[in-house]
Amino acid sequence: MQIFREKAALQSTVSALKKEGKTIGFVPTMGALHEGHLSLVKQAAKACDTVVISIFINPTQFDNPQDLINYPRTLESDILLLKDLNLNLIIFAPNATELYGEKVEAEAFIFDGLEHEMEGKFRSGHFNGVGTVVKKLFEIVQPHKAFFGEKDFQQLQIIRKLTEKANLPVEIIGCPIDREENGLARSSRNERLSPEIRREASFIYLTLKKVKEKFGTESAKYINEWVTSQFAEHPTLKLEYFEIADTNSLKTTSEKETGATYRAFIAAYAGDVRLIDNIALDN
Ligand code: PAJ
Repeated sequence: MQIFREKAALQSTVSALKKEGKTIGFVPTMGALHEGHLSLVKQAAKACDTVVISIFINPTQFDNPQDLINYPRTLESDILLLKDLNLNLIIFAPNATELYGEKVEAEAFIFDGLEHEMEGKFRSGHFNGVGTVVKKLFEIVQPHKAFFGEKDFQQLQIIRKLTEKANLPVEIIGCPIDREENGLARSSRNERLSPEIRREASFIYLTLKKVKEKFGTESAKYINEWVTSQFAEHPTLKLEYFEIADTNSLKTTSEKETGATYRAFIAAYAGDVRLIDNIALDN
């Protein structure tokens, strides 16, 4: 396993591999790696000869400066976790200057409205930051395929849009949500939950599964009210939003249309820890 801090060294290694005919997979992360990240790396390694994993805590995507300060920095243990996989991996862990130069600023993107839905309403500027760093990373790594988790489904759709609009020659692969035993979607933020609240937080996924059952027979309006009432009975979890949205446009749906597919999305606070999750409703 090789580790690069500088883009020039990474690029020359990757381009040599490509010249040998090797396929390159890419998994961008912000570190604090857990099984959810590793599931992406494993999927990438099945599909590609070599997998580049970037570890970079991207300052421009944090709307809350305290969140950026609090973000766990665990490079040493991240490297050990990746080494233990025994796969053909390259780690790219640049610093901010290496990626951004002197001006650590986000570009302004138009993602055809995707950026205004759900997370976009609650995390101002977040997707401009994500778009900026992912575009830079794609330009440096130039992978054949890049792997993103459906855990951040809106991010995945925005990256697809970014790639399509900028005509970037990379295939975007969405990977299933990896969950703890009780169903809670894995996240580095789960470490900040007390054992009791971590147990209770499985309620988010249980609710999504019931929403999926109800979606066959009940209206979106009824399901919305039902979810709100369920959360009212669980005061440890504070619902920020619940949405049933079109898979492609991410626009809220009030009535099902034939041919369209839908997903349900939840953002909720457990104390000061913000959790997100989602589920496909059509399969
Ligand atoms: P990060 O939160 O570190 O997540 C890196 C990747 O892991 C994302 O594609 C995310 O969706 C995926 N992931 C996280 N938890 C997962 C789980 N439980 N199951 C499946 N996939 C999971 O997302 C980011 O970083 C950043 O925004 C980034 C894209 C790296 C840009 O800075």
